[in-house]
Amino acid sequence: MSATIIDGKAISQQIKDELKEKTAALKEKGIEVTLAVVLVGEDPASQVYVRNKKKACEYIGYNSLSYELPEETSQEELLKLIEELNGRENVDGILVQMPLPKHINEKAVIDAIDPSKDVDGFHPMNVGALCIGEQGFVSCTPAGVIQLLKRGCDGQIDIAGKECVIVGRSNIVGKPMALLMLRENATVTVTHSKTKDLANVCKRADILISAIGKAGFITKDFVKEGAVVIDVGINRNAEGKLCGDVVYDEVAEIASAITPVPGGVGPMTIAMLMNNCYESAVMRMNNSNIK
Ligand code: GUN
Repeated sequence: MSATIIDGKAISQQIKDELKEKTAALKEKGIEVTLAVVLVGEDPASQVYVRNKKKACEYIGYNSLSYELPEETSQEELLKLIEELNGRENVDGILVQMPLPKHINEKAVIDAIDPSKDVDGFHPMNVGALCIGEQGFVSCTPAGVIQLLKRGCDGQIDIAGKECVIVGRSNIVGKPMALLMLRENATVTVTHSKTKDLANVCKRADILISAIGKAGFITKDFVKEGAVVIDVGINRNAEGKLCGDVVYDEVAEIASAITPVPGGVGPMTIAMLMNNCYESAVMRMNNSNIK
């Protein structure tokens, strides 16, 4: 048996096309969607991410405001910019690209963003809302994984009641991923570097989600026959080639469905960021109607 490939590129394109249509309809009501993108310094990977986010805005029909600040920008200056963007009615989303230079405290920056504009879903208010099942912005990568599971395999993957094992417990992926799978009524296990007998714990999974960032870590010995395998890892192997956490070829032999790297989870992050921007604009529109 060979696994069905869950095509993140195609699914993210589908989501962006849906948003493009909905954004045009919103524009007819006089509402525009605006994302402010803030980059501090010249990290080449961050520059690529930011460029791709701006390109996605352009494709869908959002306005993007770009703030490219020098490496020496002080925390105070950055916080002042965030405060200004918080106050601007025409800004729906604020994205500060991480990592920030070492002299800037990332937590202070995240905390400063108005939770109603925190389209990354990093603010403690949004994390808390997810935790207790209230409305809020959800971190884009785990939200993208949910869409892959719902839209992949022609919508045939059931989550409710399934055993889901997550490898990794980061604030950005592992933890919110667990909460989202719980919201979908999966039975969830979160594993990490201290987990005993990890391979056998993973082997229990109907849905295995790996987010540890170690190339080639998940071999076929971690995977139950027929499992759905989602690879969140983005790593470079010894030859410098982009690869996930999963040894794709051997795992694809036994899994029922699998995401490739590249072209799996990666493209979904931007699609979900765009979705959060749209939701933010709609919320802002509804709130201004109530007033
Ligand atoms: N750096 C790497 N991924 C992300 C992301 O999803 N959002 C932000 N703001 N920075 C990142």
